[in-house]
Amino acid sequence: MGSVVFKSVVKNFGALNVLRSLDLAVPDHKFLALLGPSGCGKTTALRLLAGLDMPTAGKVFIGERDVTRLQPRDRDIAMVFQSYALYPQMTVADNIGYPLWIRGTPEAERKAKIGEVAAILEIGHLLDRRPRQLSGGQRQRVALARAIVRDPAAFLMDEPLSNLDARLRLTMRGEIKRLCQRLSATTIYVTHDQVEALTMADLVAVMHGGELQQMAPPIEIYDRPANRFVATFVGNPPMNILPAGLAEQGVVAGGRTVPLDPARLEACRRAGIVEIGLRPEDCLVAQPDAMNALPGEIYVVEPMGNETLVNVRLEGGNVSVRAGRDFRGAVGENIGVAFDPANACFFNAAGLTAVHRVNSNGREK
Ligand SMILES: Nc1ncnc2c1ncn2[C@@H]1O[C@H](COP(=O)(O)OP(=O)(O)OP(=O)(O)O)[C@@H](O)[C@H]1O
Ligand SMILES: [Mg+2]
Repeated sequence: MGSVVFKSVVKNFGALNVLRSLDLAVPDHKFLALLGPSGCGKTTALRLLAGLDMPTAGKVFIGERDVTRLQPRDRDIAMVFQSYALYPQMTVADNIGYPLWIRGTPEAERKAKIGEVAAILEIGHLLDRRPRQLSGGQRQRVALARAIVRDPAAFLMDEPLSNLDARLRLTMRGEIKRLCQRLSATTIYVTHDQVEALTMADLVAVMHGGELQQMAPPIEIYDRPANRFVATFVGNPPMNILPAGLAEQGVVAGGRTVPLDPARLEACRRAGIVEIGLRPEDCLVAQPDAMNALPGEIYVVEPMGNETLVNVRLEGGNVSVRAGRDFRGAVGENIGVAFDPANACFFNAAGLTAVHRVNSNGREK
């Protein structure tokens, strides 16, 4: 196995600058999710790593090796695509064994290895079938088996679950996580699904517009987003953002002044904050005239079974609140939104998180 490093990697397609200057280091044995919206350059980055494209500038390393100029076959990586890319005329066994066959691995050894990975992925009973005789989830397992069959230095996966239905996606999410933990393989997993990224990865790298926004463990990405983009891209429903100002005693948002402790108030003042960010689960529904609650009216109520999402129109914008499963309320009803400002974060005019939330022990995290 090996670490994976992008060093000042630039990629242009003609006049289009897709990767600006990507610096990213994935430690050995770690599972990194490369997360970002459509078109931000995720697949491009993965293709550069696989050797399917050349960077315009910069270098790519796998382990200690500079692989920038190497052919894909010399890079010792395995890639799993969204489209599985199985050979339709070959049996499952031959599909899995193909990378070994290419390398000239003797038949007996090949068979043993195919049996081994098929057992790991629980597809041993499917080895004689052709891909068309398999379900989507089974095909995905075959594609994974083919990737792991030859112990590559790194696995690259590009949205491998996006062709599966929602239920199967959920199952395979857990399966891939287990598999990667078992293999302890350096993995780069591209997704635009923030839930996949948070649930599966050791590290999440958030990209936007060809630039890395933040790389950190999932919880840190969620609790201490580096900027407004990360804050609103990760989390469902996304973080609520309201314009905010400062008064003598606290933060002014949604038509009220909510008291802030003096240290945080001073930090906000120094940073020149312009917005407040609140996670829906850190907001509470309250009486419209409750102290320190922001007054608003119900915009929409969405019962989820286990909880209720309440969208409230406030001065300055709408906010989502995660309320209990028993919440009842009608559209247009007056309501208050309460929150503990220790759970809020604050953004400056450049969109950077200038003041983070305080953790439950009252310490700045
Ligand atoms: N071969 C190419 N020639 C020209 N432009 C390209 C090429 N490949 C990608 N692009 C452009 O580069 C940008 C990034 O594409 P990329 O496929 O890396 O995005 P992505 O983050 O993987 O998006 P998605 O989530 O939709 O797969 C897009 O604007 C795309 O149109
Ligand atoms: Mg892509």
